Amino acid sequence: MSETPTHPPDEPEVPAEDRAQDRGRTVHGEAANAGHRVLAPDDAEVEAYLEQALHAPPPQRVETEAPEQPDAVVVLDFGGQFAQLIARRVRELNVYSELLPHDTPLAEIERRGARAIILSGGPSSVVEADAPRPDPGVWSGRLPVLGICYGAQLMAHELGGEVVPSSKREYGPATITITDGGALFDGIDREQPVWMSHGDAILRLPGGFSATAQTDASPYAGLADPGRNLYGIQFHPEVVHTPIGSEVLRNFVVGIAGVRPSWTPANLIETTVAEIRDRVGSGSVICALSGGVDSAVAATLVHRAIGDQLTCIYVDHGLMRKRESELLRATFEENLGMRLVMVDARDRFLRRLAGVEDPEEKRRIIGDEFIRVFEEEAEKIGQIDFLTQGTLYPDVIESTTAETKTAQKIKTHHNVGGLPPDLRFRLIEPLRYLFKDEVRKVGLELGLPEAMVQRQPFPGPGLAIRIIGEVTAERLDTLREADWIVIDEIKGAGLYRSLWQSFAILTPVRSVGVMGDGRTYANVVAIRAVTSDDGMTADWARLPYEVLAKISSRIVNEVPGVNRVVYDISSKPPATIEWE
Ligand code: XMP
Repeated sequence: MSETPTHPPDEPEVPAEDRAQDRGRTVHGEAANAGHRVLAPDDAEVEAYLEQALHAPPPQRVETEAPEQPDAVVVLDFGGQFAQLIARRVRELNVYSELLPHDTPLAEIERRGARAIILSGGPSSVVEADAPRPDPGVWSGRLPVLGICYGAQLMAHELGGEVVPSSKREYGPATITITDGGALFDGIDREQPVWMSHGDAILRLPGGFSATAQTDASPYAGLADPGRNLYGIQFHPEVVHTPIGSEVLRNFVVGIAGVRPSWTPANLIETTVAEIRDRVGSGSVICALSGGVDSAVAATLVHRAIGDQLTCIYVDHGLMRKRESELLRATFEENLGMRLVMVDARDRFLRRLAGVEDPEEKRRIIGDEFIRVFEEEAEKIGQIDFLTQGTLYPDVIESTTAETKTAQKIKTHHNVGGLPPDLRFRLIEPLRYLFKDEVRKVGLELGLPEAMVQRQPFPGPGLAIRIIGEVTAERLDTLREADWIVIDEIKGAGLYRSLWQSFAILTPVRSVGVMGDGRTYANVVAIRAVTSDDGMTADWARLPYEVLAKISSRIVNEVPGVNRVVYDISSKPPATIEWE
């Protein structure tokens, strides 16, 4: 084993049984709230409802659609938990990087405009007969190669060196000593803290290679054959625990491979807009706006390309946060001049939710009503050729990770039988090559307001699953006011962006209090604030007492019907982020 599933503190591991936690079924027939949601849960969910309403066929993602980037770095995925992170770190150098399956032929890698190849880590051992290996062409020296962890061991093993299971496993922090500066370690001091995660060790280097770095446990923590442009490192440069990681990657990508760092949000917008224009021609396009970041950025890109050929639909189900719908209208209709169909469906959602207390029943009703509204609106629009979605890169890349599979499931839920043969929507996914942080950068570059671009994730069923028990207009107003105060104070304290989510929950509990001269018997509001990387696991945020105190006193003073505020100090697992 060259890499075990030990996670550094910023990449927590989730036991499989927690992921599979099943709390009922969604309208898609999938396990509802199965302990994991994609990065933009609201967008994914609302987009899925539109797909369903249109009876859209499953997305066809053909290989030829892949963009040819003149200066790309291809990361070959050997199943390592940090493979995606490598691509993200390279992109942070303003160089396009994509993750491809480990056995992608060299010809395909070159066709995609690759100027360098990085081999990721992985859980296998190179000495196993069925260990994943790359196309042997990658060793030809035609493109510079950097092997990381398992990738470095592969390089040693495949080219004639020796790799063995080691008694001196290295997991976690280690110190390397750079013994031969060379191009990869250019400008980097001799002793460096790094992150290790491997069991196998390189015992003997292949001919032509020399050692470039060592640790107490590994004489070959770095190896290189500069003549053939082959470099290997045993440590992980992509994790934050390796402070020189970005420097090493820059030395490889820009220094050794000579790739131009020209992949910027502005360039990306320009190329994407041109591509969309080309593809759509005079066709008509539809897009569901959810209030989330991804659909907002996707719609704005498409609008920039084709203007009024795009119609956006936004369903105001009355379960949004305070001022959210107004911000949406102001941004898209007034500022960007988009053709926006804003459906005021508040009454019909409320009517259907009346008397319903079960969380999964609420979800089912909301999904079902969404689909009905979308069906009616799509009918009014008439001919539709394309459907825009805010699908992100982690949703589409081929990977063996459970998260990706889950994400793909959400996008390909189609279980609609007997599709009319003439109904053939094509998908436009302008963000399908981007990670979330890149989408935010593009959104800002496109001029979308900070409040929209930096927004925390919000569930598709909205405040309905933050009101425990029955959803009524009055309870929604109470929660909206309390939630507004939470967000206001969290933003005021400069904490909003460091939290995955922060919000209020209206509990069905009433408690006794005293206000002025009288006793009260009023609602308890709970506050939830969590830190998380992806929503799969989460920890409760250690909010400063002063912030909590301010939130509490403002809610009790400003929100009628609330006399007590409590703070939720449960982590996920075993609790979930949302209360329902
Ligand atoms: P939980 O509560 O499962 O939430 O820890 C994980 C992430 O998913 C979001 N979430 C939802 N998103 N529809 C959605 O679109 C839902 O029904 C739903 N339930 C939870 C939650 O806000 C968090 O980001």
